[in-house]
Amino acid sequence: MVPLEFLKELPKCEHHLHIEGTLEPELLFKFANRNKITLPNDFPTTVKDLKDKYNFNNLQEFLDLYYVGANVLITEQDFYELTMAYFKRVSKQGLVHAEIFYDPQTHTSRDISLDIVTRGIERACKDAQKQFGVTYKIIMCLLRHTDPKDCSSLIDDAAKYIKDGTISGIGLDSSEKNFPPALFVECYEKAIKLNPDIKLTAHAGEEGPASYVSDALDLLKVHRIDHGVRSADDDALLERLAEEKIMLSICPLSNVKLQVVEKVSQLPLQKFLDYGVPFSINSDDPAYFGGYLLDNYIQLSKEYPQWGFFTWGQIVKNGITHSWIDEKRKEEL
Ligand code: ADE
Ligand code: ZN
Repeated sequence: MVPLEFLKELPKCEHHLHIEGTLEPELLFKFANRNKITLPNDFPTTVKDLKDKYNFNNLQEFLDLYYVGANVLITEQDFYELTMAYFKRVSKQGLVHAEIFYDPQTHTSRDISLDIVTRGIERACKDAQKQFGVTYKIIMCLLRHTDPKDCSSLIDDAAKYIKDGTISGIGLDSSEKNFPPALFVECYEKAIKLNPDIKLTAHAGEEGPASYVSDALDLLKVHRIDHGVRSADDDALLERLAEEKIMLSICPLSNVKLQVVEKVSQLPLQKFLDYGVPFSINSDDPAYFGGYLLDNYIQLSKEYPQWGFFTWGQIVKNGITHSWIDEKRKEEL
């Protein structure tokens, strides 16, 4: 097993991080008080009781709690503080570059404007770049459980940010089963029309089948797949991912918390390595899943003790290569 110091020092890029999923209970209650938000009657009232709720049987059980938690985010300052808290914590863990997801529909559905949300997150990213020397990209996710027409309207509303590069990428998240990529073809096409350089990704093959991964590639023209663990069910797909150098953003602790697998060691990561499928290691919704970026690395190092310095170096290098940053920044990292 490689030493902890080695894992800490690795220049880590995070590609799969929902900023709303970094809302720690302490911050949640702070924002609820500050914004005078009444949480539902059955919502826990202490940090401990809330943390005790973080036992999920599947993705939907998590999402149900996650969306209630997000209701405390109201002002630009809330989004700023949330994002800054993430950078402050993870820059100490060897983070060098973060590509951050946000879910505007979770907020616009409560009449919090896209501008408030986007500006708060972006301002924190810029400050984090100055304070911690990290780089960042912002990825706007479409909620796949909502009407695709709403997702399409969100793309229209975000046109200025897509055109000027404030939003570097489009993603697709939320409940996966029964919400296939095919529903969102128009949204993705619209985003490409607004900015032909826009980067595209989608959650696929987390709980959904391997065919959702192929569909995301074929229909949405994504450059990356979020999760994608179910790709391991289809050897031809694995060959394709390796051939086309499509990176999977893997979230080990998330997959255990949401019962995609029982243990991190059951993830098909060795198979991905053997096929040459690139993947990065990420934290998904760390406030809910029991660990941030480095904690995911540490758990993998325990459960894949056969991975030595070379394999770890290769994984981290893949993360840099497939980050949506320019060649100069890649060289620096
Ligand atoms: N939104 C936040 N976390 C998610 C996950 N793991 N899968 C799908 N949607 C999400
Ligand atoms: Zn996710």
